[in-house]
Amino acid sequence: MHEPERGAHGSAHAKTILLGEHAVVYGRPAIAFPVRSLTLTAHARAVDGPLRLSTPYHHGSIAAVDDGTAPREEHLAEAALRHTLDALGVAHDGVDVTVTGRIPAARGLGSSAAVASAISVAVARLHGIDLTYEARFELVQFVERIAHGSPSGLDAHATMSPGPIRFESGVARPLVDTWLPPLVIADTGVAGHTAAAVASVRALRTTDKRGVDAAFDAIAALVEGAHTDLRTGDATALGARMNACHSILSDLGVSSPELDTLVDAAHTGGALGAKLTGGGQGGCVIALAPTPADVPALARSLTEAGARGVWPVNGGEEEAA
Ligand code: PMV
Repeated sequence: MHEPERGAHGSAHAKTILLGEHAVVYGRPAIAFPVRSLTLTAHARAVDGPLRLSTPYHHGSIAAVDDGTAPREEHLAEAALRHTLDALGVAHDGVDVTVTGRIPAARGLGSSAAVASAISVAVARLHGIDLTYEARFELVQFVERIAHGSPSGLDAHATMSPGPIRFESGVARPLVDTWLPPLVIADTGVAGHTAAAVASVRALRTTDKRGVDAAFDAIAALVEGAHTDLRTGDATALGARMNACHSILSDLGVSSPELDTLVDAAHTGGALGAKLTGGGQGGCVIALAPTPADVPALARSLTEAGARGVWPVNGGEEEAA
């Protein structure tokens, strides 16, 4: 605890799931990487008067958020702000929060978790509190439940962790001394609906539990194999596992024509592997370049195939900038 400040800030980054989405909801492992080229920062200031919130999507008083016209991201930001104030036991007024930077929303990149994480840290610091990791996680999970219903916790951990993590049954562990595969994220431009995608997998499982559980086990085996690939730096093996995972996720019904188009474009562009990342049914793909030097050409192929945004992860950021 330190002296309360007039102004304070908190930051968070995007994340991408290398392997394990959907199966992770059912206790299987997943691996995720931070995306440091996509970050946002919340600045909190003490002011006289009611709460105010400004984000890339909205500027003004909280009342304008409440009138029902603000986009969904705004409601999540407001929920993070109010829930943090509740956790601190302070009144819902006298704070102005401005969020700068941008993580595309509803693209499987963890934007709702990152917004909540940045706001909770900034607002707590404004009140003289440095949140523990656990307290911050709980605040982010509260907002993730509004966003996604029953989140596994992977997004909250992945957007708070400075490095890659392996997540399983509620526990996140840092992946240390690992090879950092040169990945490119490409955005279809189509909003993904994580809650709907998770619900559709759940519905499929009620009709074919054995088949869906076998798919989850196959994804878990790919995650285990990928964990080894990351230790040994075997790019070819990792790429093959990403391809296999995309095909399983397609069979589970969470791919889309736009995602499949970008996966095909990644292969044409020289990727060793490509798959959807996150909830799917829209959102982004990730593709593995053979080396960091191949990232710009792969990013170009994805853009030419219609990607609305491309972001390198783990190398190649400078080349692609
Ligand atoms: O928020 P997204 O779209 O990155 O999806 C998170 C990954 C899922 O496994 C689909 C859901 C979850 O809660 O882990």
